[in-house]
Amino acid sequence: GTFITCVLSLLVAVSGSSGYTDHRQRRFKDNFLFGTASSAYQVEGAWNEDGKGPSIWDHHFHSNPESVVPGDVASDSYHNYKRDVEMLRELGVNFYRFSVSWPRILPSGLPNIKNEAGLQYYDNLIDELLKHNIQPMVTLYHFDLPQSLQDLGGWANPHSIEWFEDYAKIVFQRYAKKIKYWITVNQPNSVCVNEYFETPAPESVKGIVDYLCAKNILIAHAKVYRLYEKVYKKKYGGSVGISISANWGDPVTNSTENTEAAENYRAFGFGIFMNPIWSKTGDFPKRLKDRVAKRSQEQGYSKSRLPSFSQDEIKLIKGSADFLGLNHYTTFLLSPSTKNHRSPSFADDVSVDMTTGEKWAQSRSLWLKSAPYGLYKVCLYINKHYDYPPIIITENGWSSDPGLEDSSRSDYIQQYLKALLLAIEDGTDVLGYTYWSLMDNVEWMGGTDERFGLYEVDFDSPARPRTARQSALVYKRIIKKRIVEE
Ligand code: NOJ
Repeated sequence: GTFITCVLSLLVAVSGSSGYTDHRQRRFKDNFLFGTASSAYQVEGAWNEDGKGPSIWDHHFHSNPESVVPGDVASDSYHNYKRDVEMLRELGVNFYRFSVSWPRILPSGLPNIKNEAGLQYYDNLIDELLKHNIQPMVTLYHFDLPQSLQDLGGWANPHSIEWFEDYAKIVFQRYAKKIKYWITVNQPNSVCVNEYFETPAPESVKGIVDYLCAKNILIAHAKVYRLYEKVYKKKYGGSVGISISANWGDPVTNSTENTEAAENYRAFGFGIFMNPIWSKTGDFPKRLKDRVAKRSQEQGYSKSRLPSFSQDEIKLIKGSADFLGLNHYTTFLLSPSTKNHRSPSFADDVSVDMTTGEKWAQSRSLWLKSAPYGLYKVCLYINKHYDYPPIIITENGWSSDPGLEDSSRSDYIQQYLKALLLAIEDGTDVLGYTYWSLMDNVEWMGGTDERFGLYEVDFDSPARPRTARQSALVYKRIIKKRIVEE
């Protein structure tokens, strides 16, 4: 009741949307897909085994010789992939989203050396999944750039476009036959913005090159999309998308400044990547262009730090996705004092349920609170601005402390799935939902303290045994019954 009232009053208050009456239909359709996700660096371990080259994360953590590096072994999925698939079977998921490690396949980053043992690992994982009727959903790039390419400027170097194409070609050649769902890049808005994780985070490029990175990644993504379209689409019929992090941002009150702050977040935070692919103009959002141009001029640059697109580039990028991968975790209530447009923080005292006055539940991660209405709102915003693209929720998840009793995670999943059902009822074209994550893993700068797993991983034990949490049973039941209970 409370949740519905909350959504309803926010809808009326903020967006003025009509047409919502009740949500009686609480069942996900039979063809709706449920899955879980992980990424190579976060789970694989075996950081230097069998010919793998170092990624920017290996390099970053190893630059301090004193420290124990969580990613060296991580959840050791490199040696535990059979157990991982067994867990997926226990859950009854339709698909598993994981990423291929670029430096495991191409240790130098370039196609001159192919690491057969690295490919073998993905052969094994993919075949094990298919054997059990679980669709693999493969992310080509999930933050772990080969260090050798970072040394050449990483994504700020326009040659990164070819590097990525060459790498994608090799992966497509080997796996196009077996993979129906592809994601080119995970969260480019994190890759190109250094404030996302605690600075300095190695997946990002610094300062003024943020926008060069954004442009290069968009082009690299689009080229890989076109490559698949041209060579494999007809033959295998798979789909290719990109996963963009879009949390919701609402003004903390309806004042002009706060409304501006929320609109800035939507433009700088995710519009920057969605607009070129899904908007009619095929260009960066106007708000972004205007603001960066103005700021650059004030700073003494001869032209805007935001690069522009040529007509050919616009043609290439526009429409270059079969689905929008939406990574959504939380809602920010914004004011000018929550500052950074791209990666805002919470206005803490005001993150409360608007109807009950209760504070939003807080996860183990500082940036993550539960505010499910934001998922509904971001879906409606995307429908309105980007003309109802097919969406796969490629990430949604909750962090906790260690322990098998995790009712906060079960609550989070149930409430976010209810919000998703509302969004679907109101016209959103959602093909599937992915819980982040299948198991505890290395939460980047957060190490192994922030546990996102449906399965707990014992990081003190060399074999990294996994145990189902209570939430795993809750998710399993939802998948089986396709219904979210109160
Ligand atoms: C975003 C990233 O894609 C993933 O790597 C990360 O672990 C989760 N969200 C949680 O922060």
